[in-house]
Order: sequence, then C-alpha cells, then structure tokens
Amino acid sequence: MEIENGISESFDYGGSLPVRNVQDLAAKISDEIPQRYIRPEIQVDSVSYDERLEIPVVDLSRLFDQQFSQLEMAKLHQACQEWGFFQLINHGVADEVIERMKADIDEFFKLPLEEKMAHSQPPNSIEGYGQAFVVSDDQKLDWGDMLFLMARPIPARKMSLWPTHPPSFRNTLDKYSLELERVEIRLLGLMAQNLGLDPEKLKDSFVDGAQGVRMNYYPPCPQADKVLGISPHSDSTGLTLLVQVNEVQGLQIRKDGKWVPVKPIPGAFIVNIGDVLEILSNGVYRSIEHRAVINTEKERLSIAAFHSPAMSTAIGPLPDLTKDSEAYYKTVSNKDYVKFIISSKLDGKSTLDAMKLIK
Ligand code: OGA
Ligand code: NI
Repeated sequence: MEIENGISESFDYGGSLPVRNVQDLAAKISDEIPQRYIRPEIQVDSVSYDERLEIPVVDLSRLFDQQFSQLEMAKLHQACQEWGFFQLINHGVADEVIERMKADIDEFFKLPLEEKMAHSQPPNSIEGYGQAFVVSDDQKLDWGDMLFLMARPIPARKMSLWPTHPPSFRNTLDKYSLELERVEIRLLGLMAQNLGLDPEKLKDSFVDGAQGVRMNYYPPCPQADKVLGISPHSDSTGLTLLVQVNEVQGLQIRKDGKWVPVKPIPGAFIVNIGDVLEILSNGVYRSIEHRAVINTEKERLSIAAFHSPAMSTAIGPLPDLTKDSEAYYKTVSNKDYVKFIISSKLDGKSTLDAMKLIK
C-alpha cells in the first residue's frame, strides 16, 4: 500500500540479523563475556580528560530574542560547523513531556523478556525491539538492546510494535514526537538562515518528513572497558535530538582524534548534525562520529529522535549552495539512500564517505 510521502508499508528496506538479547545475557553472567562483544580497538583509542573541552550550549529562547539573537545565531552556526553537536537549553518542551517519556521507556525495559519480545523486530525490519545494523555472523556486537519505532509521518507508524505496557506509552511517545518535531523545524529554519538560504528551504524538505525514535538500553557489564554500547558512527539521518534517561554518562564524540565525553545538562537536548544535513549543506555543517561506552555497575538508557527529509526529497547538496561552489556529494533518491544505510553496519563515517564525490 502506498501511503503519504511515498513511504510504502510493504517496501522492503531490509533489516538486521537477530542476535541475543543483551539485557538478558548481562543478567545471567558474572565475569567473562562472549568474544563477540570484546572490542580490542577500544584499548588504542584515547579519551580526552580535558575538562574544558565541552560541546557548545545553545539557548533556543535567545535565538528568538532581539537582544541576543545575533550572538546566539553565531554560536549556533559555529556549533554546527565545528562541533556538529551542541546542547540545546530553553527549548520550550515542557519538562513533563520529557519526564513522562523517560519514565515510560524505563518501565518498558523493566518488563520481563517475554513481554518485551512481543514487540520484537519482524524479519526484514529495523523497527521494534532488538538490535540494529547486524549484517554478518562474524561482526562484533554492541552491548545494548533498543526499541526503534517510526513515529512520523503518522501513517508510517506500525502500531503493533508500539508497547501497550506501560499503558501510557503510546500517548507519551505521540506527544514527545510532536514536541520534538516542532523544535527540529524551528532549528532547521534558523540553520537555513545561517547558511544564507531562504528559511523555508530547509524546513520544506523536513515538513512531513520521517522521525524515528530509538530507545537504547545499555546493561552494565563486568568487562565494561572492553565493550561498546554503540559502535562509532555518525547518524545517517538529518538532525538528532537525544536525551539521556538516567544520570549515567556514556556518550562520547570524536574531536581532533580523541573521544570527548558529553556531560548532559539536565533538561537539555543533545542535538547533532546527521549525514543528511552534512550532505544538504554541501559539507558546511558536519556530522560527527560518536559512540556510547558502558558502565560496570549501572545500566544506561537514552532516547534518540532522528529526523529525516520526506521520502520524496532527493538527498544531495541543496542547489542554492552549489551555485558558486562545486557539489561535494552525490545526489540520490531518499529510498535508495535509506536502503543503502540499512544494509550497512555501523562503521564510523563509511556510509557518508560513499556519498562523497571528492574523497
Ligand atoms: C544513537 C546514539 C548514543 C547514546 O542512538 O545513534 O548515538 O548516548 N546513541 O545512547
Ligand atoms: Ni548516534
């Protein structure tokens, strides 16, 4: 069935190979973990302990305040160009909406395994409860489970995969999804202005676009320093808004060759530029590699909302940005792009590199 935006319910984008539930595995082992989770590369990658190195903070209310907007707009532009990551404060989403989302997802992951499994990823789908980006039997595995749901456009929702426990879950995610879309559209309008574009240009591609919400559960691990919660990757989508559910840190971004830990500000969104926005901006904005590390004692949860342009939008540099400069990326249909992403494992910036015309 063809529905709005050309998203076809029966279209086969491909899925992920099923692998063992990590929350269950973590509950059953006390010391040695299976080899498939051991990542030798972590030992050689260095982490930055420089306390001054922190991602920029952008105040959304100031961006709309006459007195401060010029300064804050410059801050936003610089954050998108140099960091690809920032924390967004005073974003206007009520605390209650965020807190409910956190509480409901926390409750979902606490359910017995069988109950969660009722919402497992169907074959050939990345939606539902399970893991993503497992494309071969010998690939190393991430120490985490996820519940991934398409939340927008509304007709793309697969309600059978949406939990009914806790009973408020569906309503909570519906509200959360709408509020985050509003923030995202406001940010895209401002980013377009900063890029010297008509503010509607960038928004137009994303209005009626897709929003996928990935709720990540990272169990504690007795060999936490040898595993990764999520492999190094850049987000393949346009713009990501992430919140950390509990107080356990784990997100790190790659900056000048080092992994820089992100210290979430309570109530803020961690916003990052994804590959699609890097491509649309013809490389002016940067999609940065990041990963999640694991704690020995404590579980960690996060919620990432990924925003992408409508299916009818071509993925390539915006024509207005290639008038005076050459295009640095290919232009492909969104459908081909999505298919390519889903069939690739998470591997740094490899999928973005494949889109580059000049390497
Ligand atoms: C992601 C991601 C990081 C985190 O889901 O794409 O980067 O902190 N998550 O969970
Ligand atoms: Ni990510």
